[in-house]
Amino acid sequence: MILITGAAGYIGSHCALNFIENNLDDIVIFDNLSTGHIETVEQLQKVAPKIKFIKGDLRNKNEIENLFKKFKIDFVIHFAALSQVGESVVNPVLYYSNNVIGTINLLNSMVENNVLKIVFSSTAATYGEPKYTPIDENHPQNPINPYGSSKLMIEKIMDDYDKAYNLKSIRLRYFNVIGADEKARIGEWHNPETHLVPNILKSAFKKGDEFKIFGDDYDTKDGTCIRDYVDVVDLANAHRLAYEYLNKNNKTDVFNLGTQEGQSVKEIFNISQEVLNKKIDYKIVQKREGDPKILLANSSKAKEILKWQPQKTTFDSIKNAFEWEKILNSKKASN
Ligand code: UFG
Repeated sequence: MILITGAAGYIGSHCALNFIENNLDDIVIFDNLSTGHIETVEQLQKVAPKIKFIKGDLRNKNEIENLFKKFKIDFVIHFAALSQVGESVVNPVLYYSNNVIGTINLLNSMVENNVLKIVFSSTAATYGEPKYTPIDENHPQNPINPYGSSKLMIEKIMDDYDKAYNLKSIRLRYFNVIGADEKARIGEWHNPETHLVPNILKSAFKKGDEFKIFGDDYDTKDGTCIRDYVDVVDLANAHRLAYEYLNKNNKTDVFNLGTQEGQSVKEIFNISQEVLNKKIDYKIVQKREGDPKILLANSSKAKEILKWQPQKTTFDSIKNAFEWEKILNSKKASN
C-alpha cells in the first residue's frame, strides 16, 4: 500500500489522482486538513472509493505510529507541509515543527516498520538566490527563507537516514506549479492565496479588486520577474515515474521539475487574458521582498533518467486553472 501524506492539498491531490488513474489505487491518505480540504479527499474517493483517508498530524508520533500499525504500507509519497514563503519568515517555528519535526516522525516510523522508500516534495526554494541560470541539481543550496531551509534540512536528514538505515529517497524540486485537473475535479485551493495564476483569475471574478503586479523594473525583457511554470498534472506524472524508478533501482536521487522555459509575470497575465477572452484590470505595485528576478530550472536530468516529458502548454494550464476557479468561486457564492 502507498501512503500519500498531504494528499488533501494542491499537488498531493493531483498526484493521488494520477496514481489512481494509473491503477495504483491501493492508497492511504494522511492529512491534518490544516491547509488541505476534505472536499478534495472526497473527490478522490469518488474516483476510487477504496482509497483510505486518515485525518492526522505528523507532529503527533502516536498518530503516525498507529497508521503504520493499521496499514501495510510499503512506499511513501510525502507532500504534507506548510508552503508559504512569507508566513515562514514571520512564523518560522511553524515551518520547523510541521515540516522538519513532522518529517522526522514519519521517517522514524518508516525505518521502524522497514518501509525504506520515499518520494519527497522538495522545492526550488532550497537553492536561494540563483548563482547561475538555468539551475541544475548541483547548484549550491542556500535558502533565503525558513520554508526553503525546512525543505533543505529534510533533504539532509534523508541523506543521513540513507547512510545509516538504508532509507532511499527521491527528492523532486519543483519550480512554479500551475494548472488543475482537466476535468476540474480538483485544483489549487489555498487560503490565503498568494500565487500568481490563481490571483490573476480571482481578480477577474471580483469587481474593483485589481490584480497587482509586484514590480515592473526588474532587469528582464519586460521588467517583470521570470519564472519556470510547470503544470501540476505533468508534475504528478513525474511523481509516478519517480515511484517506478525508486521501486526498480532502489537508489537515492534528486531531480528538478520545471520546463526550462521562462515566462514573465506580464506574459502570464497576457495569456490569462487570452484564456478569459477579456481584459483584466491590474496595477503595478512595489516589488515583493525576496523575489529573485529569474528562476529557471534545468530539468534535463528528469527528462533523461525518469523519462519525464512535460506536455501541457501554459495556455492549457491556465485554462484548466480557470475552469477550476469557476467552481471554487461558485462554492464561495453558495456558502
Ligand atoms: N506575483 C505578482 N502578483 C501576485 C502574485 C505573484 O506579481 O499577486 C509575481 C511574483 O512577484 C513572482 C511571480 O509572480 O514574480 C510568481 O510568484 P508566485 O507567488 O506565484 O511564486 P513564487 O515564485 O514566489 O514561489 C514559487 C513557489 C514557492 C517556492 C518558490 C521557489 O510557489 O513555494 O517558487 O522559489 F518556494
